[in-house]
Amino acid sequence: MADKIAVVTGSNKGIGYVIVRELCRRGVGVVYLTARDENRGNEAVAILKKEGLNPVFHQLEVTDKDSVKRLAKHLKEKHGGIDILINNAGVITANFRETTYEDSVHVLNVNYFSILTIQEYIFPILRDNARVINISSDAGHISNITNPEWIKRLTKKDLKLEDVNAFVNWFLESVKNGTINENDFVETGLLAYRVSKVALSALTRVQQNQVGRGISVNSLHPGFIKTDMTKNAGFLNLDEAGNAPAYLALDADQSLKGKYFWFDKSEKEWTDSQLKIHCKFDIFIKHVEESCKQS
Ligand SMILES: NC(=O)c1ccc[n+]([C@@H]2O[C@H](COP(=O)([O-])OP(=O)(O)OC[C@H]3O[C@@H](n4cnc5c(N)ncnc54)[C@H](OP(=O)(O)O)[C@@H]3O)[C@@H](O)[C@H]2O)c1
Repeated sequence: MADKIAVVTGSNKGIGYVIVRELCRRGVGVVYLTARDENRGNEAVAILKKEGLNPVFHQLEVTDKDSVKRLAKHLKEKHGGIDILINNAGVITANFRETTYEDSVHVLNVNYFSILTIQEYIFPILRDNARVINISSDAGHISNITNPEWIKRLTKKDLKLEDVNAFVNWFLESVKNGTINENDFVETGLLAYRVSKVALSALTRVQQNQVGRGISVNSLHPGFIKTDMTKNAGFLNLDEAGNAPAYLALDADQSLKGKYFWFDKSEKEWTDSQLKIHCKFDIFIKHVEESCKQS
């Protein structure tokens, strides 16, 4: 454990922060707490240092290719490679009910396209048998989609990057042209977020097929957790949110590859569109509105 190097994106607060804390507590040798903002990142490191933990800060804006390249270069020079990569950085739609083109582009850039940049520059420095965990959502299960053609295309065994990109671009074009068909989705609340996380979970399967060298790539719904993203609404406290990611990073069998996990550490069949484990907007918004009233 002490010789492992881990990187967690978007970890100055929220779920990423508690993942860093958990990996440090579990004795991972070097844990990188990364943040787009240096001050927020260094402040988070300082708080963990007061707890006797020793994460290392590095700047990372996931949508900035140069920032990703700088981190990759640093990791290569300092350690030769890394063992654990947790793609956690993410944003939700600015408006939970309505979908605008500008916001959809932003959500897709942060939650999906950034992962392609990270794959380009950080995957080459993954050590043999490394573990990658893409933090998805219940909004990222295929049951969020009801369009039969996209279900068929995204769940096929030999899924390719071009299929996932076609899905994302189809969505963005539909928003731009005002041709979104509500019947293509189980619900339309948080729509761009759903599409970004479905694409991320699908990409996980593509990445697993491409990566080789014993490396595993899995996606995880971390649970409905009280963070800034949910306006502090949720079923789980932030303190519990590091357990499932740490399990996948450190304890799960290395043979688990290209799968979709739930916060209770169980695997859910991502390709089963009948599972109905999609994000339930009425429950989400009810808790968010209650939380907002209380604060
Ligand atoms: N909370 C939940 O119930 C829930 C449920 C399902 C999935 N998730 C997923 O879990 C992950 C963490 O969410 P959270 O609830 O912890 O949210 P959060 O509290 O809002 O934290 C999000 C983190 O991502 C960072 N970030 C945002 N855009 C970034 C960018 N362009 N480059 C680098 N970092 C960026 C934020 O940095 P700043 O502080 O600089 O903004 C922050 O550190 C997300 O992927 C989210 O979709 C959360």
